[in-house]
Amino acid sequence: MAEKNQNQYHPPESNGYQRDDQESLHTVEDEEAKRKKRMKWTIGIIAFIIFQVVQALFFILVIMKFKSPKFRVGDFAVQTLTIGTQASPSFEMSFVAPIRIKNTNWGPFKYDASTVNFTYGGVQVGQAIIPKSKANFKSTKKIDVNVTLSSDNLPSNINSNLGTELRSGIITLTSQGELKGKITVMFMFKKKKTSQMNCTIVINTATKAVQSLCK
Ligand SMILES: *[C@@H]1O[C@H](CO)[C@@H](O)[C@H](O)[C@H]1NC(C)=O
Ligand SMILES: *[C@@H]1O[C@H](CO)[C@@H](O)[C@H](O)[C@H]1NC(C)=O
Ligand SMILES: *[C@@H]1O[C@H](CO)[C@@H](O)[C@H](O)[C@H]1NC(C)=O
Repeated sequence: MAEKNQNQYHPPESNGYQRDDQESLHTVEDEEAKRKKRMKWTIGIIAFIIFQVVQALFFILVIMKFKSPKFRVGDFAVQTLTIGTQASPSFEMSFVAPIRIKNTNWGPFKYDASTVNFTYGGVQVGQAIIPKSKANFKSTKKIDVNVTLSSDNLPSNINSNLGTELRSGIITLTSQGELKGKITVMFMFKKKKTSQMNCTIVINTATKAVQSLCK
């Protein structure tokens, strides 16, 4: 930097014919100008270094921080619901499941096709298919899937639990799923991430309203 500074500040010809009676004054002014110029350079370089450091920190702490996207089922209302008798408890229902993939990364999350399993008492009662797609950076991908659930395959011990639940006017389901994909930041930094869904879905059989609580 000092070298460059000197190179720039050596116009010997132009200085040559000014050195007459006011030589000493000129020298002082020159020194002052040189000093100012050096100061400007120093400040400029320090500012540049600080800018670089801040940029690098921002990049490492914010942009390059890969986070697993959130995979969940939102609240919804059941469209059709049929429940059995007290003697033989059962359910049949259909609804549009609002599946949400929230990507907080600074790059898109491309994921493979997957399924969301709906279970009652640990037994699968239905499924939703998630087609392969992507969630854009800093956004929530919304997928509305038609789902039909049936208690037909429940073993008798779980069916008796269902009877108890139905008497209190609720059905508690679980939705679980796994989304495997890749996040790409700045078009080149890639990282594989897996999003887990584990939601507890409580259906009010009287109002058909559904509350979904996800981990
Ligand atoms: C879901 O079901 C509705 C009718 O209930 C239908 O209009 C719609 O096209 C279906 N959506 C999908 C994705 O199958
Ligand atoms: C969902 O069920 C399918 C089988 O129907 C199974 O292969 C898959 O692993 C299950 N997914 C989860 C997250 O439990
Ligand atoms: C899902 O959450 C329930 C509690 O709500 C927990 O008992 C279960 O272990 C969780 N399953 C997974 C696969 O994380």
